[in-house]
Amino acid sequence: MPHRIQIRMARVDDVDAIDALLTPFSERDIILPRTRDNLFQHLQEFAVALFDGELVGVVAMHIYGSNLAEVRSLVVREDMHGRSIGRLLVEACEKWAVQLGIACIFALTYVPQFFTKNGYATVPKESLPHKVWTVCVHCAKFSDCQEVAVEKRLSDAPIEPMRELPIMDVSQP
Ligand SMILES: CC(C)(COP(=O)(O)OP(=O)(O)OC[C@H]1O[C@@H](n2cnc3c(N)ncnc32)[C@H](O)[C@@H]1OP(=O)(O)O)[C@@H](O)C(=O)NCCC(=O)NCCS
Repeated sequence: MPHRIQIRMARVDDVDAIDALLTPFSERDIILPRTRDNLFQHLQEFAVALFDGELVGVVAMHIYGSNLAEVRSLVVREDMHGRSIGRLLVEACEKWAVQLGIACIFALTYVPQFFTKNGYATVPKESLPHKVWTVCVHCAKFSDCQEVAVEKRLSDAPIEPMRELPIMDVSQP
């Protein structure tokens, strides 16, 4: 029987599972830490991936302005890597951004190869608007940050605006 991957907006009853997914990666400084309060306060930015009904991936999209959004807090459970779940989560953010009329999406990441495989270009961090740094200044690694900035222009991308919340249903062998 094929496996089923669904991408849907996060709900309050997902917060425990999202917290459990993010914490091992924030403890290794791969992503920024988030408290449970922070997860609840920003829940409308989050989408989750379900694999056969189990929550195994998460992503957040933060809007900076009329033409810029960031992919944040992207994590797929380690035993689920390599099943296109990360790609589907990022694509959901892109469709969501297009639906909202946002022209460009970026990420600060230690895995730029994952993003370049998904159509992102590496850009100088300095090219990002000043307000992006309001988050960075709170990071312990701010003065020695090895993250790479990647971005994708969405206005010319062949992505159909979605009429509803970004929900995907994918079957896998
Ligand atoms: C990065 C991450 C989300 C990728 O999730 P995933 O579900 O394993 O990725 P996918 O299966 O969708 O991979 C899509 C493509 O990217 C490639 N890819 C995935 N992870 C990669 C990596 N670390 N380096 C290089 N390429 C990678 C895959 O090989 C695949 O390429 P293909 O289409 O040619 O086969 C996952 O590895 C993860 O949770 N990492 C830890 C947290 C993290 O670093 N998050 C990013 C913060 S910005």
